[in-house]
Formats: sequence, C-alpha cells, structure tokens
Amino acid sequence: MNPYNYKNNQLSVEGLSIKQIAEVIETPFYCYSQSAIQNAYQEYDVNIKQLDSLICYAVKANSNQAIIKTLADLGAGADVVSEGELRRALMAGVPANKIVYSGVAKTAHEIKFALEQDIFQFNVESENELMLLNEIACHLDKKAAIAFRINPDVDAKTHAKISTGKSENKFGIPISKARDIYQKAAKLEGIVVQGVDVHIGSQLTDLVPFKLAFSRIKKLVTDLNQSGIPISAIDLGGGLGVNYEQKGEISHGIEAYCQIVKEIFTGMDCQIILEPGRSLVADSGLLVSKVIYTKQGEDRLFLIIDSAMNDFIRPSMYDAFHHILPISKKDTQVTYDIVGPVCETGDTFAKNRTMGKMSEGDLLGIASAGAYGSTMSSTYNTRLLIPEVLVKDQDMCIIKKRTDYEVLINQDQLAPWQ
Ligand code: LLP
Repeated sequence: MNPYNYKNNQLSVEGLSIKQIAEVIETPFYCYSQSAIQNAYQEYDVNIKQLDSLICYAVKANSNQAIIKTLADLGAGADVVSEGELRRALMAGVPANKIVYSGVAKTAHEIKFALEQDIFQFNVESENELMLLNEIACHLDKKAAIAFRINPDVDAKTHAKISTGKSENKFGIPISKARDIYQKAAKLEGIVVQGVDVHIGSQLTDLVPFKLAFSRIKKLVTDLNQSGIPISAIDLGGGLGVNYEQKGEISHGIEAYCQIVKEIFTGMDCQIILEPGRSLVADSGLLVSKVIYTKQGEDRLFLIIDSAMNDFIRPSMYDAFHHILPISKKDTQVTYDIVGPVCETGDTFAKNRTMGKMSEGDLLGIASAGAYGSTMSSTYNTRLLIPEVLVKDQDMCIIKKRTDYEVLINQDQLAPWQ
C-alpha cells in the first residue's frame, strides 16, 4: 500500500502532512515512512517463513541506521558489501551471526575486520579472494564460513548497469567452474564450505530470470551434496523490482517472488537466505524539494528545483522514471522539464512531465526514492548532503542532519608548501 496519500489536497505520509514537515525542515530532504518498510518486510516474512529462511536486508539500498534498525527489530539480518556497511549494520543492532558479506573485491583489511566479528557468511567471488580469506582466517586461527557467488549466465532483463548474472559481467564464479572451486575450498584449513550464493541483478520486473537462475542453483546444490560437499545455506541475493510507474497491478510482487522460491527450494533441507534491498525500502521514501525558479525556454518550460543529481542520481544514471507529485494538489495541469541546479544537462529528473501547475516556492516530492537515493548521494558542486526524516504514526524524527559547510570544506587541507 502506498504510504503517501492526499488528504484535503495535501500530500501526507502516515497521516502527517508533508507541508508541515517542510515547515520544520528545510528542503531538500528525504522522508521515509517506517510503516511502509515494516509492511514490506512482513510481506516477505509471511510468505517465506514456511522455509527455514533468513532475510538479510541489502544495506546499500538505504544504510541509515534508523532504517537498518527498523528491519533488525523485525528479525532481519543484513547483506553488506564493505567494512563501512558492516559497521553500520552492527551498530544498528544486527547480530553478526545474521550478516552476510557480499562484494566483488573485499580487501585484506575488510576480511580481517569481518572475521573478527564472526559474521555468518562470506560470499566469495573469486579464487584469489578465497585464498586470501583462507590465509587471513588461518592467521587469526578462525574458520571462515563461505558461499561462492555463482554466476549462472542468466539475463536478468533489467537495465544494463545493474545486470550482474551474465557471463560477461564481473560478478561471481562462472557456473561451469563452480564444482572445481568447491572441491578446492573444501580442502582449505581456514574455510568451512557452507553455501551457494547467486544475485543476477536489480530492479527485475520479470520473474522468469529468477526461476531460471534458481533452478540452475538448485541443480548445483544437488550435485555438490552428492559429491560429498554438503550445502546448508542457499543465498538467493536480492533484485526484486518495484513498480516505479505504479501502473496496474504489481504482478511481480513480493508474494509472487516468494512463491517461486518456495516452489523451487521446498524440501532442499537448506536455510534460504534472501537479500532484498529496493523492494523493502524504495516505496517508503519521498524526496521533498522546492521550486526555485520556473523558466521558459525556447520550446519548453523548466521547473528548476532545489534538489539535484547529487542528491538523487537514479534519473541521471539509469534514466529511471520516478513520479513527481505536487505537495499541494493543483487542478491546472502543466508540462515541464524538471531539473536541478547542477551544471550538467544530465541533472534532469523528468522530461516532458505533466503535473499540477507549480510556482516558485511550491513543494514537490519525488516518489519511490527510499532505495539508492541517499546512499548514492554526493557533495558534487560542493552541495551539502541533505537530511533524512523518519515518520511513524504522525510522529517524525530527523534521522540524519544536513551536513554543514564547515565540516564539508574543512576536509580539504592545504599542502605545507602552499
Ligand atoms: N545482494 C547483492 C549482492 C547486491 O549486489 C544487491 C544490489 C542486492 C542484494 C540488493 O538488490 P535489490 O534487492 O535492491 O535489487 N543503484 C542501483 C541498484 C544497484 C543494485 C546493486 N546491488 C539503482 O538505483 O537501481
């Protein structure tokens, strides 16, 4: 259910009007509905709990500790890809034994830190990584529980920049080489072979590639078990898309996805791990901005707003569609190119978009911005990182403050000869 609705022509979240929030916090800011995140998690939970399962939230989607804790409090583990994410997950209260560590190039330092925390599993992506992990584990007198991330050579049919499961992509071990590397790993002193992992891409709106990849993984697990390498965990990655356009019914929702997982893996006697990111948090978020100027170009009307590609890069980077909503509903409809203030033509949120007529100073919201929004933001153009607000049952709390210029600019240091 969409947490954002109009009440008396005012867009509100969990019964709280966005306009009221913007009276307290200057735009631009991210706003998240906590209930929306909890509901999405519960939908996974209810539909997957028939299997021995663990839902490891992919922290990269939104790594604010208040968001991680929202999910950890419901029983979620975490999928992390860096020491920074691991630290955040631990600080937000995710138990180490519910943390899986993914990522294509973990450094020696990161491996050591993760081993010291006794995390649940390393998802290993290459033979060289395996060797380094073994060496560090032996040195620390520890055993690293591992899965190999298998590249099943399946086309996820999503945007090329976020497709990861084809043989040409940098990710994982080719499925053709999987059996050999498992044999090798099983002989290593510092390694405990525990699982098989797969993640074929993100924002999948078609469930068929999942079916294909999961079936290949099931076959591999069966083969490994038969060849004397018992597999106790199957990590299916993340990737389920959200309905950004909010058109029609979502035929590829969480329930349908879990149904496929159950159809394929029931009876496997393995723990099933899911790593959803976007599908847990995207729809909870709204990027609230203000119109700075309207500007009539040669053949189009520009709406120039106070957030930019540095705050929210998905439209520039993936040509992503996001609904843009006036905070106060308007009757007259106007067509705009909606752009930010950064000096790049790519700093465009939407072209040719028809929406309620906006004036300078009016507020608008970029919808479904809860995933890969704040985590992908930068300070490009020396713009400050923007605040984040969590809303729950008409309460609101700032869960990240705006950075200030002093902190931002003082990170630079002049060289002694200057
Ligand atoms: N597990 C692994 C190993 C991943 O690499 C990812 C995402 C996930 C889980 C979570 O996938 P999700 O459920 O969120 O699709 N910045 C892009 C998305 C990049 C996804 C990277 N990996 C975007 O804004 O669309």
